[in-house]
Amino acid sequence: MQQAHAVAIDARRRLRPAGIAFGGDYNPEQWPEEVWAEDVSLMKEAGVSLVTAGIFSWAKVEPRPGEYDFTWFDRVMDNLAGAGVAVCLATMTASPPPWLSRLHPHILPETADGRRMWPGGRQHYCPSSGVYRSHATRLVERLATRYADHPALEMWHIGNEYGCHTPMCWCDESAADFRRWLSDRYGTVDALNDAWSTAFWAQGYDSFDEVLPPRLAPTFPNPAQQLDFARFSDDALLRCYLAEKEVLRRVTPDVPVTTNFIGVHKPVDAFRWAAEEDVVSVDVYQDPHDQDTHIAAGFIFDVTRSARGGQPWMLMEQAPGAVNWRDRNGPKPPGRMRLWSWQAVAQGADAVLYFQWRQSRGGAEKYHSAMLPHGGTGTRTFREVRELGHELASVPEIAGTRCAADVALVLDWNSWWALELDSHPSTALDQMEIALAHYRPLFEAGVVCDVVPPDRDLSGYRLVVVPNLYLLRERDATRLTDFVRGGGHLLVSFFSGIVDDCDRVHLGGYPAPLRDVLGLHVEEFWPLPEDGTVDVRHQDGTVGHADLWSEVVVPEGARTVAAFDSGPLTGQPAVTRHPFGEGSAWYVATRLAPEAMRTLMDEVCRTAGAGPVLAGLPERVQATVREGDGGRFVFLLNHGPEQVEVGLPEPMTDALAQGTPPSDRVTLPGAGVAVLRKP
Ligand code: GLA
Repeated sequence: MQQAHAVAIDARRRLRPAGIAFGGDYNPEQWPEEVWAEDVSLMKEAGVSLVTAGIFSWAKVEPRPGEYDFTWFDRVMDNLAGAGVAVCLATMTASPPPWLSRLHPHILPETADGRRMWPGGRQHYCPSSGVYRSHATRLVERLATRYADHPALEMWHIGNEYGCHTPMCWCDESAADFRRWLSDRYGTVDALNDAWSTAFWAQGYDSFDEVLPPRLAPTFPNPAQQLDFARFSDDALLRCYLAEKEVLRRVTPDVPVTTNFIGVHKPVDAFRWAAEEDVVSVDVYQDPHDQDTHIAAGFIFDVTRSARGGQPWMLMEQAPGAVNWRDRNGPKPPGRMRLWSWQAVAQGADAVLYFQWRQSRGGAEKYHSAMLPHGGTGTRTFREVRELGHELASVPEIAGTRCAADVALVLDWNSWWALELDSHPSTALDQMEIALAHYRPLFEAGVVCDVVPPDRDLSGYRLVVVPNLYLLRERDATRLTDFVRGGGHLLVSFFSGIVDDCDRVHLGGYPAPLRDVLGLHVEEFWPLPEDGTVDVRHQDGTVGHADLWSEVVVPEGARTVAAFDSGPLTGQPAVTRHPFGEGSAWYVATRLAPEAMRTLMDEVCRTAGAGPVLAGLPERVQATVREGDGGRFVFLLNHGPEQVEVGLPEPMTDALAQGTPPSDRVTLPGAGVAVLRKP
């Protein structure tokens, strides 16, 4: 029997999806009104309980400045409420209407080389534009007032994917805003000169009026200026979000707010933004052509979960099948959309939504898949969507339960921005690649990990993994040191702890603030050429490979676990371990190839006592646990194509295979999923 999503009415007479919310972006303005009735009836058929609506509706609700027409949107909201579908209502500000840039061309963003970005796409506004913000907040005020008491209003979706197309703007208004921001940050121009090391290349400023954003320059623009511009730009976007949130809090104080992150996106510091949200949400677009796409997605899911300390989060967008924006857009093969949706739930999501409900007939995204494809309800995609909707509805108790982790992987946006600046020993260091090289062996070993900023409380973890923390504040280095002193285990990889908050080198021997805890210093960086590799010999005699980077490590108490075994650094330490206080600190001075990295991470996890959720998992099978008032759920996900058998420590029942008796063995077909409970 098909299970429907329960949607309850709360004390304030609003619809609340119970269990895992299911649905997608709903863009009714793309269709004649006759289609809307079919929309809601098919939504019910598919088990939809929540849609996010109005994201690109600005031009239709305010066709001329100050002239609003919400009547059509009233009918959309009423239809949805009538069908029992709750709405995550967008503030409609992601794509300004043509009249706004015609009347105020200065809202249009400019690139670093002074080119204007014109309307015709979307997100064509300068984040610092006062005109844009005042029109946006005026619209939000109208919207919030109109729908404050509408039964369909479940939550607010502010903006959309901040920083997706216009993460930074170099125009004159941005320049003025940047100067204000710098003056707040530094107080005096002398302090700015000091922070930016402007004595170098005769860059000393006499007044804030002389300061510009890092526009196209004859050679490397000042790195501290670039770093501050990344911070400022993130902040300018956040201020757009906060301006809208302020209106919503005033008009609808009881309605939660969110905004959807674009995966883990360099311009937007998810950890900082999450503190300003009631629920974190994220958009994840796996690439079906990449057989390890689930690992990268897993990383994003873990960042999203960790951003508000483990609180359940929303998968706001994913594609039901193919996207339209890669060069070659493969559809998700049968079962993969289900598997990857359950993966989000297994990693803590309480909502599975898609972009978008009905596939567009025209416009730039007409080849992007949708829950309801051009081909209608007789398609594989619609069938899979409908089946998943009802399957998710069959286990409502999962909602609200949480994942726990023994391991934390550290990610810091400030360090990311600084690491990828120009004029470094190597410009091949890519923060996400390095983070994933450390995440992958944990994921493959079935060890659940949180991803946290370096100022988070680390005391609950057994192991902290620092893939790269090029920029490290003294206070964060002290926290890492204290963590190890108190019995924690730490793994730090190369080119970490090198500069301070202003991109100035920490003197006293690299990596000065971590020198004590790691028991070593680094004398010289020795990055490898493109395609260059080096052998690394473990003390047990096995030889692995490494690439990208090497360095001259001088132990000061650390002992060598593995040494370079080819090239100019032959015989020198490549991996070290330093017993320190009650714990120990490992250091990795190169990028180990995946196999060698896995071997090392297994050894480090064993030492730290950080194990997998289930021992003896077959390759490419992921296991996680969620626990809470609703019970304890063990999720098994087979990311491989072949059928596998998984042994359990005790007999359990699979909530997705109702009627099957408890067993201590689970058979998972390729792309199979099981959600296990004790009988
Ligand atoms: C983003 C946007 C959506 C849509 C999808 C397509 O996530 O938020 O509006 O453009 O991409 O993948």
